[in-house]
Amino acid sequence: MVKLAMLGSGFIGRFYADSIHGLRSKDKIVSIYSRREEQAKKFAEDYGCEHSTTVMEEAIAHPDVDMVCISLPNNLHEEAVMLCCKHKKAVITTKPLGRNAVEAKRMLEAVETAGIFNGYLEDLVYTPKFIKAYESVKNGALGRILWAKSRETHPGPHSDWFWDLEKAGGGCLLDLGCHCVEITRTYIGKDIRPVEVMCWSDTMVKPIEAEDNAIGLVKYENGAIGQFEVSWTFRGGLDLRDEVMGTEGTIWINSFLRTGFDMFTSGKGGDYVAEKAESNTGWLFPVGDEINELGYNHMFFDMFDAFEKETKPRETFYDGYIVNAVLDAAYRSAKSKIWEPIKLDDWRGLEGQTKESTLVEFDADHYLVKEEVTHYGEKKLILKEKKTGKIIAKIIS
Ligand SMILES: NC(=O)c1ccc[n+]([C@@H]2O[C@H](COP(=O)([O-])OP(=O)(O)OC[C@H]3O[C@@H](n4cnc5c(N)ncnc54)[C@H](O)[C@@H]3O)[C@@H](O)[C@H]2O)c1
Repeated sequence: MVKLAMLGSGFIGRFYADSIHGLRSKDKIVSIYSRREEQAKKFAEDYGCEHSTTVMEEAIAHPDVDMVCISLPNNLHEEAVMLCCKHKKAVITTKPLGRNAVEAKRMLEAVETAGIFNGYLEDLVYTPKFIKAYESVKNGALGRILWAKSRETHPGPHSDWFWDLEKAGGGCLLDLGCHCVEITRTYIGKDIRPVEVMCWSDTMVKPIEAEDNAIGLVKYENGAIGQFEVSWTFRGGLDLRDEVMGTEGTIWINSFLRTGFDMFTSGKGGDYVAEKAESNTGWLFPVGDEINELGYNHMFFDMFDAFEKETKPRETFYDGYIVNAVLDAAYRSAKSKIWEPIKLDDWRGLEGQTKESTLVEFDADHYLVKEEVTHYGEKKLILKEKKTGKIIAKIIS
C-alpha cells in the first residue's frame, strides 16, 4: 500500500485520484494540499483523505506520507520537488516536468542527489493501445522504425494559468508537445539520441503571448524522424492519434475521437461525454473507461510497483528532462526557422548510432529496390545494378 500526498485538487489531481483510488484500490491519498481551503476540504471529503491543508510543505512533510504526487501548475513543480527532496519523500510529477530544460535539470539533479524515488507521469505512454502497439514495435513487427507521429489537439485548456506564458512556460507546444515528444521518442527508442528539431509555431486565434498551434520534426541520431502536431484551437473535441511507420509495418492509433463508440442523443439528459468534448448533443464519441483509456491506471501501477520493488518506473525525471530539452530546441527553431540542435549535457543512451544502409541485397549483381505484383498478373522487380548504379526492371510472368 502506498500512502500519498496529493498537491493540487484541480483537473488532473482529480483524474489521478480517481485512478489511484480506482476500483477498490489499496493505495490511498492521505493528505491533500490545495491553494484554497474550501477546495482542499472538498477534495478531502470526496476522496476520504484524513488530512487537508493550504500549506504545501505540511502535506509533503506529513508523517504518514510515503509519496508525493504533484498536480500543480507548471510554475510550481520545481518548488514542490525541492520540498520533496528536503523531506526525502518519493515524488511523482505530472507533465511537463519543467517549464524548460534548465528547470527540469535542476529537478533531476535534486532528486538524484537526495536519492529519492522519482517518476514522470506521462500517461499517454501507458494507454492500453500504446502498450500493445509498443510491444509489437519492440518485437520487431514493424521492422526498423523510420517515422513516428503523434497528434494532440483540442479547443484549449480549462484553467487561467495555462494561458499565462510566465506560469505555463509555453503554449500548446509545451503543454501538448510534451506528450507527443515522449510518445514518438518511445516508439523510436528511448536510448536513441534526439539530435535536432525543426518547428513551426504561431498564435493564430487566441489573444495570448504563447503559440496556440505548432508542428515539428525531431531528428534522431539513427536517422528516424519524430513528428508532433499540437493545437489549442482545434474544434470538435480531443484528437489524440499516433502513426508509426517501419520497414516492415505500420500502426495507426486513434485514442479518443472515433474509437468505435458512436452515440446520438437529442440532448435530453445530456451529461459529461469525455475530456474536452465540445458538445453533449447530436452524434457523440464517448470514450468508455476514460481513466483507463488515458493510461492513468497502468501508469500508477508502474509507479507504485516500482516504488515497492525499489526499482525505477518506466518514466522518470530523466525522461521529463529529455522532453523539455527537445521542446526548448523546438522553441528556438520556431524563432530561427532553421534546424536547431538539442542541447543535452546529460545523455545516458547509446552513442554514435548511424543510419542503416539502404542497400538490400538481391543477387551478386543487383540490389532490390521494389517488387510488386500488378493487376495484370506480372511480377515486377525493380533492381539497381551494383556496378553501374543503373535502375532496371525485371518482369517475371
Ligand atoms: N494528461 C495529463 O498528464 C495532464 C492533463 C491536464 C493537466 N496536466 C498537468 O497538471 C498540472 C495541473 O494542471 P490542471 O489541469 O490540474 O490545473 P487546474 O488549474 O485544474 O488545477 C491546479 C491546481 O493547483 C492548485 N494551485 C495551487 N497554487 C496555485 C497557483 N498559485 N495558481 C494556480 N493554481 C494553484 C489549484 O488550486 C488547483 O488545485 C499542470 O502541470 C498540467 O500540465 C496533465
